[in-house]
Amino acid sequence: MSTIPVWDNPLRDPRDRRLPRIAGPSGLVIFGVTGDLSRKKLMPAVYDLANRGLLPPGFSLVGFARRDWEDEDFAQIVHDAVREHARTPFREEVWQQLAEGMRFIPGDFSDDEAFEQLRKAVEELDASQGTGGNFAFYLSVPPKFFPKVVEQLKKHGLAKAPDGSWRRAVIEKPFGHDLASARELNAVVHDVFEPDQVFRIDHYLGKETVQNILALRFANTMFEPIWNRSFVDHVQITMAEDIGIGGRAGYYDGIGAARDVIQNHLLQLMALTAMEEPASFDADALLTEKLKVLKAVKLPEDLGRHTVRAQYAAAWQGGEKVRGYLEEEGTDPASTTDTFAAVKLNIDNRRWAGVPFYLRTGKRLGRRVTEIAVVFQRAPHSPFDSTATEELGQNAIVIRVQPDEGITVRFGSKVPGTSMEIRDVTMDFAYGESFTESSPEAYERLILDVLLGDANLFPRHQEVEESWKILDPIEEYWATHGKPAQYASGSWGPEEADEMLARDGRSWRRP
Ligand code: BG6
Repeated sequence: MSTIPVWDNPLRDPRDRRLPRIAGPSGLVIFGVTGDLSRKKLMPAVYDLANRGLLPPGFSLVGFARRDWEDEDFAQIVHDAVREHARTPFREEVWQQLAEGMRFIPGDFSDDEAFEQLRKAVEELDASQGTGGNFAFYLSVPPKFFPKVVEQLKKHGLAKAPDGSWRRAVIEKPFGHDLASARELNAVVHDVFEPDQVFRIDHYLGKETVQNILALRFANTMFEPIWNRSFVDHVQITMAEDIGIGGRAGYYDGIGAARDVIQNHLLQLMALTAMEEPASFDADALLTEKLKVLKAVKLPEDLGRHTVRAQYAAAWQGGEKVRGYLEEEGTDPASTTDTFAAVKLNIDNRRWAGVPFYLRTGKRLGRRVTEIAVVFQRAPHSPFDSTATEELGQNAIVIRVQPDEGITVRFGSKVPGTSMEIRDVTMDFAYGESFTESSPEAYERLILDVLLGDANLFPRHQEVEESWKILDPIEEYWATHGKPAQYASGSWGPEEADEMLARDGRSWRRP
């Protein structure tokens, strides 16, 4: 078994003197290995980690699915996925080494024989690849299969780690579709795995720009003193996508934008933006602070005026007709599923009382962009003539999560000339200009953290449940009050969303 030492790795930046975080002996078993997520994100992330020298030499990857495949067929599938989607260049020697540890188990989740084979494969890999009994089981499957898979892992002795080794369960969202179902799921998983064995993936937390919220706020002095109700007018968190639901109607219809994105990604972004400084960056300390924010959320009384849901309608874009949501393949033609959702939340604590947090997300919007905009109050007094400040907006700090990663500070500046005219200008930090290091994909970071047992970037069940407590009343309100509004594909959402902010004397940013 050859090893490419991390120090000799051509992908390593020679100026990087930090000790690399390298996973110890281990393997990953993926259930749902034929799905899109596995092909586009998980397999490439495993390869990219190996390519960067961050996986142990005998790392093993086991696929489990209802396919009549041999190990070689599985390796070919992984190979194709890596070739198509990996972030780092293809290197034959890295691939060869990784391929040595690949196994495939055919079977469905109720098939005891298949789980016996899986148990034997794990033992065989321990012996041949030196995985040391350390395995993570990645459940990239719809939640309805969670109970069966964890029950089988328990029944076949896979959930319990042999002495001196570890076993971990990795769970993909959705973690339920409301509080009750999330609690049921959590109970099922915790019946088999201890809480510190369970890693729930919210891939937004794996993004560099999201982790940078903590650096921005807590490694600097100049932001935190103004990060509160005395200076902030409101906060807007936007996650816009230009794509529609594609072939995902089976998952998406009946779920919708609020459950798909607000319940997890956007509430996590809000918690990181609003939380107090944690005592440390370990998982418990972060959980404590994020939970305090989620528990302090108060919904507006009149949900009809302060929330909006909508569906994209057909539209002409670039000379082509784009289908409306109800015409997408697989959606119920009478579906009331939201593809756009906007909500106003208040955080009832000393730091944020009276500062609304507006969250919005949608498919088929103007462009793909995720950002957090902290919008400041206007200056308490202006010594300038009112005509001088006609074009001056509010100061803002915008954390550009993607795709143009960075931070923008917006403020007013005198327009050059003989009169006093003040206009908004921006000061920009762009990752691409300030750093030569490229950002790893979220899944690279998260898979590595699972293998290292580092739980900081994984929401715990308490956060998941608290987030459902916020969303459930909104979903219930929507279910009993009319139909979603409509918006043209390619627009920035329905008029109702603009009206929602206009009622508060504010407007959405056009990112
Ligand atoms: C997923 C949602 O969690 O995030 C998808 O289920 C969405 O509907 C995706 O498209 C967006 O992720 P990203 O990283 O491309 O912003």
